Amino acid sequence: MDIQRYPTLDSLAAAAGELFVELANDAMTERGVFHVALSGGSTPRAIHLWMAQHAYDLNWSKVQLWFGDERCVPPDHEDSNYKMARDTLLDALDIPPHNIHPMRGEFTPTQAAEVYESDLRGAFPDDLPRFDLVFLGLGEDGHTASLFPHTDALLENERWVVANHVPQLGVWRITLTAPVLNQARVVAFLVTGEKKAEALNTVLNGEYHPDDTPAQMIHPTAGREVWLVDEQAAQKLSDES
Ligand code: 6PG
Repeated sequence: MDIQRYPTLDSLAAAAGELFVELANDAMTERGVFHVALSGGSTPRAIHLWMAQHAYDLNWSKVQLWFGDERCVPPDHEDSNYKMARDTLLDALDIPPHNIHPMRGEFTPTQAAEVYESDLRGAFPDDLPRFDLVFLGLGEDGHTASLFPHTDALLENERWVVANHVPQLGVWRITLTAPVLNQARVVAFLVTGEKKAEALNTVLNGEYHPDDTPAQMIHPTAGREVWLVDEQAAQKLSDES
């Protein structure tokens, strides 16, 4: 398991941004396009800000920006993952608007999932979407994307995108499903802060109970899994982890 520890959020953000740029350039050289799924929540903010400062000269016309999950709110809502990405990265980039693929949180959950899957099928007509990079976060409860413990989305093996009711939050979410996430060439988990230490150790070293700890479901079937963690999040890992 590739677990990379960083002393500070800034050093982790730089490493994640440099990974994004490296994989983007490789994908563009090999296939002429870079498909990346951004993570939601707050951790990616620092990575986005780093990229807005240091990756502005990437050939963004060949980047297709997708999202791993979204809250069922309008795109200008403070909880919107799309708004967070707009505010911290997208508005700073010279990227064609049609290269950005937000999940439509303003639609009904079912409609949003159907529309997004249709959008993905347009880009990946032959088979399961194979993202060049998927950024993922980790919740204190072991969720990732919007695959929350004991929710229906964990059981989905056919659809690529689903509306997932999360009773523990009393909300609906839109999320890519585990089969799609596991099809990625690279999955990079971004985990910071001492509040994630317990969950991180459980995911990496605990018994396999994906219904309790859904992040344990994510292991690329033919790809690379890397964990970028800061020292606070890593404090419960043994030194050899
Ligand atoms: C979301 C995310 C979610 C997030 C984790 C960690 O929409 O909230 O996709 O899976 O990555 O909850 O969130 P933080 O980075 O805010 O700790």
